[in-house]
Amino acid sequence: MTERFVVAIDQGTTSTRCIVFDRRGQLVSLAQQEHKQFFPKPGWVEHDAAEIWRNVERLAPLTLRRAGITVDQVAAVGIANQRETTVLWDRRTGAPIGRALVWQDTRTDSLVHRLLAEPGAEQVQQQSALPLATYFSGPRLRWMLDHTPGLQQRAELGEVLFGTMETWLIWKLTGGAVHATDVTNASRTNLLDVHTLDWSPEALHFFGIPRAMLPEVRPSVEVFGTATAAFPGVRIGAALGDQQAALFGQTCFTPGEAKCTYGTGSFLLLNTGTELVRSDNGLLSTVAYQIGGEPAHFALEGSIAITGSLVQWFRDQLELITSAPEIETLARTVADNGGCYIVPAFSGLYAPHWRSEARGVIVGLTSYITKGHLARAVLEATAWQTREVVDAMNADSGLTLKTLKVDGGMTADNLLMQYIADVLDVPVVRPLAAETVSLGAAYAAGLAVGHWPDLEDLRRNWHRAAQWLPAMDPRRRDTEYANWRRAVERTFDWIR
Ligand code: G3P
Repeated sequence: MTERFVVAIDQGTTSTRCIVFDRRGQLVSLAQQEHKQFFPKPGWVEHDAAEIWRNVERLAPLTLRRAGITVDQVAAVGIANQRETTVLWDRRTGAPIGRALVWQDTRTDSLVHRLLAEPGAEQVQQQSALPLATYFSGPRLRWMLDHTPGLQQRAELGEVLFGTMETWLIWKLTGGAVHATDVTNASRTNLLDVHTLDWSPEALHFFGIPRAMLPEVRPSVEVFGTATAAFPGVRIGAALGDQQAALFGQTCFTPGEAKCTYGTGSFLLLNTGTELVRSDNGLLSTVAYQIGGEPAHFALEGSIAITGSLVQWFRDQLELITSAPEIETLARTVADNGGCYIVPAFSGLYAPHWRSEARGVIVGLTSYITKGHLARAVLEATAWQTREVVDAMNADSGLTLKTLKVDGGMTADNLLMQYIADVLDVPVVRPLAAETVSLGAAYAAGLAVGHWPDLEDLRRNWHRAAQWLPAMDPRRRDTEYANWRRAVERTFDWIR
């Protein structure tokens, strides 16, 4: 019998990837394409959804060709996507209406402040298990409806559709036949009632969002439909937000298991089982995954907006390095940060602070500081932000994290991984399968069509590739952490 494969589409913040996996969960081929980032004003970040779809159409045959397989050998396709990014399109023509507003975009800052003072704000936050914040899609959708004349009316008539990236891709893949999201992505909108796992009528009323424009909410692991474009004839077996997909790819199926993905931002998710745990320490409660009609699994999430994108900023805006991996070489030219700290509050600060008005700072500058010290401070910012969310997670769960499973592009940086182990004082481990986001989407899609029998089968594929053990003197750790916290304080009082 001809071998069958599963394909993942990983639609991320900076690029889109199509990856073919074999039966053992090993990567067979990869095709990747970056898309343009639009920054029309400070704090605004946009994508062109049409460009992203074109990339998927181009990457699909490319990845199959590289794998040396044909589309009829693909058992299923799974989607993992950048979450909260908001797309609107015309139901009739399938063309996007304006640009997609990206999860990092803070233009809804004043809208969110206004909404917070309105009656019903508390109920929306309770039902969605999220704070009202610029990060989520609901306020962004309200902003879009307010800023395009006639759009509200057209949305009420069902002529304009809303989706996050997976919804947009499912729509395009099925030639407009399926308008659906999954519970993980829906749980990032401020619009989902986490108890019913459906849109909350109260939240829709609060935001003034017409039900007619919203996709159907489905389990993450389920056949959404059959593709007619890009992978014609292949079933779409899963959709998950990319961070939830990484949790799945790391096979964190048992309550208490956690992973942190280091990409543009970094996201630490702890599986809390079928119970939703609310945070008292600035973490989010989110849906982790739902397999068919089974009860959904939830997670506590520590979301950090800026980590890898701080390295990109160092490369592209400051031009102190020419490629991202060079930051490690530059940081190794000095022994420490020389007293310098960078807090990258470019989109405000997310977990555990949730201060949208915060702005980034560099503190401790003296004429002694070189670009090597700045490079250290860039890397250390990622480590200290991780420490803050791990502290919050330990406090919320009443457990102490024993080891941290990591993945994502930044895990190639050994200096950073060692520093994270040092500041957390726990071992940091990386699996052999580095592409955990794609792998999670592939696993989920393969499960939906019976390509893999069960979760245990997937768990057997997890193998450790690297480990970093803590080695920092505790007194130094405490002093550095205290300095970091003082630097964070500075970000709050910059804008009044
Ligand atoms: O919540 C935003 C997150 O899903 C983005 O992930 O890896 O595309 O930057 P990434």
